Amino acid sequence: MTKKILIVSSSLRSGSNSEILAHEAERGATDAGNQVEFVNLKGKDIKFCIGCLSCQQTLKCVLKDDMADLIVKVQNADAVIFATPIYYYEMSGQLKTFLDRCNPLYSQENKFKDVYLITSAYDSSEHAADRAINGLKGWVECFEQSRFAGALIGGGVDAPKSAASRDDLLKKAYELGHNI
Ligand SMILES: Cc1cc2nc3c(=O)[nH]c(=O)nc-3n(C[C@H](O)[C@H](O)[C@H](O)COP(=O)(O)O)c2cc1C
Repeated sequence: MTKKILIVSSSLRSGSNSEILAHEAERGATDAGNQVEFVNLKGKDIKFCIGCLSCQQTLKCVLKDDMADLIVKVQNADAVIFATPIYYYEMSGQLKTFLDRCNPLYSQENKFKDVYLITSAYDSSEHAADRAINGLKGWVECFEQSRFAGALIGGGVDAPKSAASRDDLLKKAYELGHNI
């Protein structure tokens, strides 16, 4: 069955390792016959959530920026892959801001079910992404139709584009996308 898959890449640097891995997941998901959309947060205007909670009444955010279009893509996807660099052993601030700004979805019917995380970090420990994974799991738990479906821990990559020569990570990313 063809699935609608949304990929949200949150690194803002050029030659981003997490973005390289996210594109490899895109390739895998596309090869498997899915409809895949890749969104890059670079250059997007996404303000911090101001916590007014008016979205819980109006189902819309009072802030006027690029999230209005992006939130619809999250809501209507079957699966979402988030990609983030590890910053201070957490997800990037850009991704956290994106997740917070999805708050209008909290009191709505949503389609997205499987949620994945792709990370990149200098640290090659298998635990380098633990806190980022836990953070995303917390978000997923707030959406009852949704489940955390898996993570790729892209450890041992630091310089821009270094993930491009890591065949092991590229293979895992491709498979993550292909197996959705
Ligand atoms: C502000 C900042 C904080 C970082 N913190 C960590 C960290 O806690 N652990 C780690 O292993 N790497 C850390 N790094 C390195 C990045 O995770 C690493 O370079 C990664 O490959 C960047 O991914 P990107 O190219 O997709 O942006 C940090 C980098 C920056 C800029």
